[in-house]
Amino acid sequence: MRIFPNRWSDYAVVFLAISALVYAVRRLHASKWTSRLLLAAGSGMLLVGLMLRSLTFAAMLPVRLAEMLRMTSFLALVGALGGAAVAFIWRILPRPKPDHSPERRRVLLAARAAILTSPVVATGYGVFIQRDNFKMREVNVPIKGLSKELDGLRLVQLSDIHLSPFLSEREFARAIDMANEARADLAVVTGDLITSSKDPVDACIQQLARLKAPGGVIGCLGNHEVYAKREEYVQFRGARHGIRILRDQSEILTFRGQPLCFTGVDYQYMSSDYLAGTERHVRPGMPNILLSHNPDVFRAAAAKGFDFTLSGHTHGGQITFEILHQNVSIARFYTPYVYGLYREGDASIYVTRGIGTVGVPARLGAPPEVALIRLCAI
Ligand SMILES: [Fe+2]
Repeated sequence: MRIFPNRWSDYAVVFLAISALVYAVRRLHASKWTSRLLLAAGSGMLLVGLMLRSLTFAAMLPVRLAEMLRMTSFLALVGALGGAAVAFIWRILPRPKPDHSPERRRVLLAARAAILTSPVVATGYGVFIQRDNFKMREVNVPIKGLSKELDGLRLVQLSDIHLSPFLSEREFARAIDMANEARADLAVVTGDLITSSKDPVDACIQQLARLKAPGGVIGCLGNHEVYAKREEYVQFRGARHGIRILRDQSEILTFRGQPLCFTGVDYQYMSSDYLAGTERHVRPGMPNILLSHNPDVFRAAAAKGFDFTLSGHTHGGQITFEILHQNVSIARFYTPYVYGLYREGDASIYVTRGIGTVGVPARLGAPPEVALIRLCAI
């Protein structure tokens, strides 16, 4: 049984994070026991995160526990790297000295204050400005063999709504209005209507029922419907409002006289056997489109014959930083498909940033979006 992963890059990341943690804790100049406690807790969570990169080890734990541990270990990773960066800049920045001019002392004091307050300022921006600053993202998706009648067909996608104390119904209503203004042919919802069982799922469904499109509203469930034990409820209540939630089901829709097959699956847990059995939904002679909350299924979807997959789940990283022209986020540790359009042979996936937030009620570098997808013949 293999409880550690076999990719060297996983070990390199954890080694780097533990080194950063040691450095940051040393620079704290805390008491011996506080330092030991921080080091033990941080390193422990980083090692658990490393072990969870092994599918064998992850499969031994209850799914919710594995996901919670994974999130905690990522927070330890971000805390260690961020803490070390702040400590390093704090150290190399010149300190104001008595022989410095008043002007220079002021600049140095301001720079040091800026470093200490930057995490607070960034969080404030993410919570109060970017969190509900919805954008419409338009994207062209090439589909091989798409008939000329279906060329230009438009789907509007909403995902990861997480209607909760951190996203009010009024804020969400703005996203619905934005989606309706796009006048798409079909509206698609790809899961995570709520975060927990206490959240207002009925209000979310009522807002989704306001979506207007000739093809109506179809969708799939996310992992938070599972956590909240709302899978059957969302499908049942959704159906009463005209929202068809597909659970290992497919539906053929006709636009401009041409059929397309839409298949929806429940949240796919991290596995080496994604989408087991879904190949039976793939119909020859028409475009096959998959709705899967988890984008990690993309390779399996392409292999099974799905031309295009719509996903969410990552929130586009929710909090991302650009380092050396690479967007770095926690989600990148989970999946290579964090945000945007990806291709595998002739197959494509679009991963939307979605609407809401989970964990930290903030977005940084990953503003919420309503996606407008245009199918294009190639
Ligand atoms: Fe989500």
